[in-house]
Amino acid sequence: MCGIVGYVGERKAVPIILEGLKRLEYRGYDSAGLAVYCDDQTLGIRRASGKLRNLEEAIRLDPVEGSFGIGHTRWATHGRPTEENAHPHRDCTGDIVVVHNGIVENYLALKDQLTAEGHRFTTETDTEVIAHLVEKCSDKPLEDAVRCAVKQLSGVFALAVLSRKHPNKIVAARLGPPLVVGLGDHEFFVASDVPALLNHTRDMVFMNDGDIAILTPEGVRFTDFDGRTLKRATQRILWDPLMAEKGGYKHFMLKEIFEQPRAVRDTTLGRVGQGSGRIFLDEVDITPKQFQAFKSVRILACGTSWHAALAGKFMIERLARIPVEVDYGSEFRYRNPIVSSHELTVVISQSGETADTLAAQREAKQKGSPTLAICNVVGSMITREAKGAIYTHAGPEIGVASTKAFTCQLTALFLLAMYLGQTRGHLDEAESQRLVQELLRVPGKLETVLSHDSVYEELGRKLHRATDFLFLGRGVHFPIALEGALKLKEISYIHAEGYPAGEMKHGPNALIDEKLPVVILAARDTTREDSRTLYEKTVSNIQEVKAREGIVVAIVCEGDNEASRVADHVIQIPTTDDLLLPILEIVPLQLLAYHIAVRRGCDVDQPRNLAKSVTVE
Ligand code: M6R
Repeated sequence: MCGIVGYVGERKAVPIILEGLKRLEYRGYDSAGLAVYCDDQTLGIRRASGKLRNLEEAIRLDPVEGSFGIGHTRWATHGRPTEENAHPHRDCTGDIVVVHNGIVENYLALKDQLTAEGHRFTTETDTEVIAHLVEKCSDKPLEDAVRCAVKQLSGVFALAVLSRKHPNKIVAARLGPPLVVGLGDHEFFVASDVPALLNHTRDMVFMNDGDIAILTPEGVRFTDFDGRTLKRATQRILWDPLMAEKGGYKHFMLKEIFEQPRAVRDTTLGRVGQGSGRIFLDEVDITPKQFQAFKSVRILACGTSWHAALAGKFMIERLARIPVEVDYGSEFRYRNPIVSSHELTVVISQSGETADTLAAQREAKQKGSPTLAICNVVGSMITREAKGAIYTHAGPEIGVASTKAFTCQLTALFLLAMYLGQTRGHLDEAESQRLVQELLRVPGKLETVLSHDSVYEELGRKLHRATDFLFLGRGVHFPIALEGALKLKEISYIHAEGYPAGEMKHGPNALIDEKLPVVILAARDTTREDSRTLYEKTVSNIQEVKAREGIVVAIVCEGDNEASRVADHVIQIPTTDDLLLPILEIVPLQLLAYHIAVRRGCDVDQPRNLAKSVTVE
């Protein structure tokens, strides 16, 4: 995690760095700091524990100016979130400063060795060794000194270094966590993620693992760790800078929830033949013949993306009749998994940089399985490792709690399921046309769900003092129960569990009492008779919870008159095909979690102990 920003050019660096850090704060907010080269040829360093606003205040009280510099926002791994441990970190002379995202795994051995050589350490961090390693080679040009240092590191790193002795130069290096270089007019930027730079340039170079970038006001050069020159392509980023603003909403999370109709529409359009019902996945470098030959599908992901994967299993198995296994990115590679080249591996990640998911993807690849990414960030590592990507066009997601990326992942999985079904001859034209029409109606139905926000707010008011919640669902609704529980946990700090409704009698029924809210997903596609059985069983679950005096919140489809009659609170959503209902039914749960968290005074966009992108294992 952690966010890095660097600037070289003629403008004042501090406001540019602070603004970039603001947009990267989702990556970590335990402390922040910056270093700039000042007119008096010294390095001006300011650091503060806690959120970026503390650093801004520190700079207001003790201003600093310079025309090139680096900044950092931290998610603590090694060392407490104190000011001393805040980046940038210095060498003994104070001439070299480093900001770092990642983990130096051999830092203790390096620290012992450097201490024995006379270096003095002042922090508890792993990062500080990098500054001292660069110092050891400080008689060389800065880029050579950085190369020398990074070759001694094991672990993962994205870092930016500047030196008082080499004005107008920043050296950045990447092995693992992302780094993007922004190209301006006689000014250049480096950052952990695109939104940090969008206000200054849309022309960006995504650094590869093993790249060094040398930024000066004259231009940027790329080399490998041995100093060999590299050519790196420039990409034009189409995201509008306004997409990374709150746009009048109180929180990014709220704005992102309300963007879902647009996001799902953008993810769908251009991929569906509205008359023919055909699905087009042009970005994918796997031929229809190869798609036909796969014997199974495996989906790898973490967190919310893993919940999307679980729902994807229902979609792909029903529409394409091919077996699907779902694995946690963080578990997969530790059991010597059995993988074959006849298996398609789908990797789902909003950020495209989750370390566990990436490592799992590499394991599957190395064992011969072609990988396909479902991802929100163009050019991210996971997409570059894959044989193609289905991009979710959610736009930048800043709130730590994933919302619009999730509904777009469900949409992309539905498209993939249909594509597999068509390619493999399991989905005929009539059914394809029906499903495409249903999918195209989803954004409008999302608008309807969002228009009932006052209902979710009122429910949040009634339930925000609860200490535990249960979320229950069956079939494709079970992953949504998990996701509803995760949303509530991460932003309101209320303990919540998602459970398959049918498993309640095997233990969790013991938890039910008059204080426990139980959210039950009882929506069904009323046009499909086969959805009735599961629905009836879910209604029985509602009765069982009521019999034990639990507080039932039922999510039902409009026109429902069975579940609604027994539940204490009813949330209605429009009906659609069962496989598309998850896209609608998660939205009230997102908003319920949001309103509860706001009532409890929680920091919705930056919940404690979390960061948006988990780039360490
Ligand atoms: O970027 P990714 O989709 O790979 O991230 C995976 C998880 O870290 C992420 O979904 C996390 O669970 C969210 N905070 C949930 O809201």
